[in-house]
Amino acid sequence: MTTTPHWIAGRPGHGSEVLEVRSPHDGSLAGRTTTATADDVEAAVDAAARVRREFAATPAHVRAAALDSVSRRLAERSEEVAALITAESGKPLKWARLEVARAVSTFRWGAEEARRWSGTLQRLDTDPAATGRMALVRRVPRGPVLGIAPFNFPLNLVAHKVAPAIAVGAPIVLKPAPATPLTALLLGELLAETDLPAGSWSVLPVPNEVAAGLVRDPRLPVVSFTGSVPVGWSIRESAPRKHVTLELGGNAAAVVGPDQDDETSLSWAASRIATFAMYQAGQSCISVQRVFAHRAVAEALTGRVVEAVQKLATGDPTDPATDVGPLIDEAAARRVETWVDEAVAAGARLLTGGVREGATYTPTVLTGVPATEKLACEEVFGPVVVIDAVDSLDEAFDRVNDSRFGLQAGVFTRDLQVAFRAAQVLDVGGVVVGDVPSFRADQMPYGGVKDSGTGREGVHAAMEDLTEERVLVLTGIDL
Ligand code: SIN
Repeated sequence: MTTTPHWIAGRPGHGSEVLEVRSPHDGSLAGRTTTATADDVEAAVDAAARVRREFAATPAHVRAAALDSVSRRLAERSEEVAALITAESGKPLKWARLEVARAVSTFRWGAEEARRWSGTLQRLDTDPAATGRMALVRRVPRGPVLGIAPFNFPLNLVAHKVAPAIAVGAPIVLKPAPATPLTALLLGELLAETDLPAGSWSVLPVPNEVAAGLVRDPRLPVVSFTGSVPVGWSIRESAPRKHVTLELGGNAAAVVGPDQDDETSLSWAASRIATFAMYQAGQSCISVQRVFAHRAVAEALTGRVVEAVQKLATGDPTDPATDVGPLIDEAAARRVETWVDEAVAAGARLLTGGVREGATYTPTVLTGVPATEKLACEEVFGPVVVIDAVDSLDEAFDRVNDSRFGLQAGVFTRDLQVAFRAAQVLDVGGVVVGDVPSFRADQMPYGGVKDSGTGREGVHAAMEDLTEERVLVLTGIDL
């Protein structure tokens, strides 16, 4: 097996320390790379700082063509990329394939937005003192970006850092998650096929201690981080003068309204809740962790959710039929096991699941979890869902909001007024009506409130985040 290079200012390189990446499913070797040396890191940051002006001035067609090329090449190599995601993260192949398809779209959106990115004209002659003046308001990159990506979407959450940066002409130094660097490095191969200027991008597997230095480095004035809550907020605190975007955790909730009492609605809600509580072994910030079902439908819904969960195929993630694979490592599965055991000891009722084998935890449904238990108030990031009956939609909305997180929520209802009320009262970044909170299209603004983070991704939203307004006032203009 060859050693995958990392990418320093667009060129391949090798460090001295070998990093073996193993499947969380069976420990098989997914690939080998090396951690970037201090010299590599310095070269990447220095190059990003030097190319900053040139890259910002690169014509839109060059940036768009590069993004289109990455999108096309990802589509051409999609099976290989999906297999690599599965090999290094344990994500079932069916979900890895979907992730690749999404990344194809994320880069395509980057290209489209790069072509559209223009600015606005503002007239200033609204007062006598500004007669004959107008302003051209454009957004310019804040500067080179440090992108820090998580393990749960080793490709598409990297794409959400890289594509918007290239689209606005901001150099990016990307740190992939230590557990899943290989897919990001393969993406580097596709970026290296483009005509982007040297220094405009680097992909560097570096240990977290090195990342702390990068976070403080003034040559990288923007940090875009997706990952855990404590690390995210500590980044923000350690770099108060930087522009920091945080996509952090959540314990997303689905509300099921009393109008969902017919068979079609119940089956739809149950199958969506079962699938999206357990997809990727629950390792998505918007997987369904809490369900608040109106008492009129709660019992019928719960039975159907349990049935649907028991039908999920668990096991080898390389098998295209597998729905639920392992967590990222055994420690993660042990933590989930502990939280479930604690909840049961505190009085919760286990309806199905609750068994760990190595890094795999069986899809688990509980009810009656006390509000103080971690399963109810923290982010489980595992294949576990808690269902509770509520007496009214107001109670359901209060329970959704009774969380330190606020990323997305789902509301199953056919009532338009309920939908609008949910959007008004729920303290989250997004409300999905008629489905689980786990729905995300890659062009829509995505991000949270409260401990779930600050700033928004979604290609256009991230481009706004990576840039700031610059005004050009023109004088003596005949309007
Ligand atoms: C996340 O885990 O925050 C990303 C979810 C997604 O992109 O679907």
